[in-house]
Formats: sequence, C-alpha cells, structure tokens
Amino acid sequence: MTSSARRRFLKAILATTGSVAVSTPLQAMTRPQLPSEVAFDYGVASGDPLQDAVILWTRATPLDNNPSGPLKITWELAADAEFRRIVRRGSVETDLARDYTAKIDVRGLEPDTSYYYRFIGGSAQSPIGRTKTLPAEGVEQVKLAVFSCSNYPAGYFNAYQLAARADDWDAVLHLGDYIYEYGAGGYATEKSEQIGRALPADNNGEILSLTDYRKRYALYRTDAGLQALHAAAPFIVVWDDHEITNDTWKGGAENHSAEEGDFFARRAAAVQAYYEWLPIRPPMGERNPQIYRSFRFGDLLDLHMLDTRVIGRDQQLQFSSYLDESGNLDAETFAADMASPTRTLLGKSQREWLQQTLSESGAHWQLLGQQVLMGKMHLPVELMTSFYRGGNENLTGELIRLKAASLRGESLTPAQLARLQRQVPYNLDAWDGYAAEREELYRHMRALNKNIVVVAGDTHNAWFNHLKDGDGHMVGLEFATPSVTSPGMETYLKLDEQAARELADGMSLLVDDLQYCNLHQRGYMSLTFRRDGIEVEWKYVDNIDSIEFAEAGSHKVNHSLLQNT
Ligand SMILES: [Fe+2]
Repeated sequence: MTSSARRRFLKAILATTGSVAVSTPLQAMTRPQLPSEVAFDYGVASGDPLQDAVILWTRATPLDNNPSGPLKITWELAADAEFRRIVRRGSVETDLARDYTAKIDVRGLEPDTSYYYRFIGGSAQSPIGRTKTLPAEGVEQVKLAVFSCSNYPAGYFNAYQLAARADDWDAVLHLGDYIYEYGAGGYATEKSEQIGRALPADNNGEILSLTDYRKRYALYRTDAGLQALHAAAPFIVVWDDHEITNDTWKGGAENHSAEEGDFFARRAAAVQAYYEWLPIRPPMGERNPQIYRSFRFGDLLDLHMLDTRVIGRDQQLQFSSYLDESGNLDAETFAADMASPTRTLLGKSQREWLQQTLSESGAHWQLLGQQVLMGKMHLPVELMTSFYRGGNENLTGELIRLKAASLRGESLTPAQLARLQRQVPYNLDAWDGYAAEREELYRHMRALNKNIVVVAGDTHNAWFNHLKDGDGHMVGLEFATPSVTSPGMETYLKLDEQAARELADGMSLLVDDLQYCNLHQRGYMSLTFRRDGIEVEWKYVDNIDSIEFAEAGSHKVNHSLLQNT
C-alpha cells in the first residue's frame, strides 16, 4: 500500500469508528490522544551527538487534518538494525505548536557506538535511522562529511545521496543555507519547472512567516537524498544567512525591507522553524538564537561550530559605495573602514568564548565549523573596479599571465608590479570584510601554536586556503565545501567548463594564499583527521538536473600536522 493509499485507508477507518482522534476539548487539554495515526513523510534525523547522548528527530504528520490535541508517538533506540537489542524506548508528544516535529535528547548512551532508531505512531512506523555517539578516548581517526548551500529549485540533492552511500561518517557537518528563502522567479529558480523542482503553490513566494518557513523545511525534507543522509549519520548544523534571508547581519539583512515587517519577528519565526526541523540542541534553549557550541571527539579533535551571521555580525560594507561616478576607488577611505578595529563578525561574547575554548582545549586538532571564507581572497584592484564598470574579458588573463611571469622569476616593471600588488578583497560579506577581527583571531591562533583547521561554505565553490597572518605566518588551513545545488562562480561569470577550469588555475596563481579551487562543480567535502595528518577530498556529482546521477571525480589533499603538539 502506498503511503497516500494507507492514509486514505486509515482515514476511512477513523471516520467509521468515530475514533480516537476525536476528543472533547477537556480531554485534549488533559491527555494526549492514543494511539495517534500519523505519517512519517519527512523521514528521521539525528544530531548533536555527545559521548553519552544524541538528539533523535522526526515529524509525525497527523492524518486527521484538524487534530484537536497533542499527538503521542513512541520511539525506540537499538544496538542493531533489526531492533533485537533495544537499548531505550519512550514516548513523546507533539502538536501544532511545534509543527508536529518531535525531538528527543536520549542520554546515558555508550561512547563511539552506532545505534539504530525508529518512531511508531498508531499503525505507522518511520524509516530506520542510524546514528553514532562521539568517541571518548583512544581515537585514531575521525571522518566528517561537510555540506552547505542546498537550494531546492536549483536541483536535486545528489551530493547528499552520494554521501549517504558511505556508512562510516562519524558526523555530517552542515555549514548553512540548508534552505533558501526566495519565491518562484527568485534566485536560482530558472530551471525549477523544467526539472520538476518548482516551489509548490502554497509556498512559492518569499518566505516571511512561521508558516512559510515551516512549509519550506517540509518541502526540502521531501528530497530523497536529504532523507537518506539524515537517516545515515548524525548532523551537526549551523545556519548561514538564507535560513533567515540573504546577507543577514545582527540588525537586518540585504533581502529584508520595512514592507516585509519587523526584521526581528521574521528572524524569530525563522529560528523557531529551524529549531523545530533540525536535530540541533541549542545551547541556550529553543527560544535563544545562540548556536555556537563545541563537540569533543576524544582527544583527537575538538569541533567548534560558530555563528558568523546572526548573533554578532556588524553590517557588511559595500565595495560599490567607495567608487566614484567614473568607477574609481576611494582607496584611502575604503582601507580606513576596512581596518576599523571595532567591526565584528563574531561579536564580543562569541569571540571571547572561542579564544578561551581554543586556549583550554587539549585535543590534537582544532576544527572551526563556520559559514564564510576566512582566507584572504584579495584580487588586483583594477579587476574589481573593471567588474563594477561592466567587465573587461581580457583583463583577468592578462593579470594571471603577469603573476605567472613574476612567479617564474621574470623581472617586472614597477608599473606591472604595482598592478599585481594593489589588491582589494572581493567579497566583503566574508571574513575579508572584517579584517581587523580576523587578524586578532590569527594573533591568538599563532600564540596557541595548535593544529587549527577551518571549514567554510557560503560561496558555492570549493577552496583550499593557507591562513596567514599579517606577517605571512601560517596559523591554519581552510577547506571550503562546494554547494549541494546553488550556482557558483561559473554561473555568475557565464563560464563553460573549460573556461571555469582555466580560471580556477589562474585564481590559484593570482590569489597568494589560495592553493586549490573548483569553480563549476557541485558536491561535498570529506575530512579525515588522523594523528599524523588530515586527508581532505572534494567529491563532485555529474548533474543536479535529475535524480539519476554519477560521481564526477574528486580532488584529494593530504596535509601533515602544522605544529608538533
Ligand atoms: Fe548559499
């Protein structure tokens, strides 16, 4: 029986028996309906594993459209996939106030152990999920999958499906843009009708209200790849901007106007839906938007998940506001504003927490899981001003050839050197727009002399940066994951595959601290930490236009320890 046929069948039974789903208001207030007939259409998920705990999640869609009270479902956690050895069992209530989602924080578990879980509501049973607690000691390896920027109308979430085929993830990190807020006709929706990913009629505008945000999560959770990956491994998530709206900062957002209502009311709705639909354990409770928190993988790795968006970020600077009518840059004012010591991405409390946490940690590796690129992505200033003037196709190639010549040791004229050396950051929404705070963090990292790795999302492309302070001293490594589906540099610059590959090679020459980039493929990143080094592999899919796909190559980097701790 299909799930919709099963639903019709159950509805028919409820209608003829007068049924448990109907109760008086008094009964509804005093005790839940038993049993509750539900459908588990959005799969299961787990997240925020600790050494002795993990969050389990599902949504129990009521089959009665207007249930008058809370629903009760039961859950089971077992040591085996056949549920012969059940470790914990319990029940949980949910209702409209939390969009019929349910989260259980199961405690008292064994470290470094795989568990299987499922939910039961009335006669329905959820799919089975696998999860894993964090290791406590003697850890030789930690393997993480890293994702960001999954945009439903842009394509199928094949990158999630590809990762779900592996069964050895310790955890999946999602660095944000788990959903996008735009309506039909908005960003990255061009192909949606054609490929069968149109936004549904009841949720095809820009999302603003709690109901809008909830429906958007429900839509995304119908994707088979996303359901498969949630069922395969615990997620550790942070949001980026699009879980609220584009280019969010602590007091507003680029994609929010006064006509759309109060920004903080919208933010509260977005945060509520996020907490309802994702398997996260918010450290300050489900009313508080503070999500920065740490996870300990034995003595091998401490993971610090940061919020560079919502809790502390000052408003972004706009490069265009420093250009005069002819497109010339007011370099002095721009440099002064960029160097402002008060501009912050993390906010004071989070920055102090991070510095203290890094100082106190005794783990072999420190991993910062965060949203925006930390590495210096500085480009020759004439490339930026030319871009704002409408572009010059030959300029990029010319500057790349000049840089290549300088790297080969050829002597350049002072004018040629100046063209390469006069640089500006190209993305002021990233750490580059908050350079003084980054330098302060780098100073701290350098003084600690630890093995620090940063992961980032947000850009939709793959990057590997050396993180170097103002003296050129390497303080860490940064690996950035490509998007699951959102369009990258190849789309903005209208590049075919060959041109995108050539530009990627050229960018790695032009940008001093950049070691590798991929500007045209969708996928994810695999990180394996060991005692003696780290292995990073970017995995790509061959298309996002169909649910049928194949792996389309990968790129691997092995890096030894930065410091001998
Ligand atoms: Fe994104």
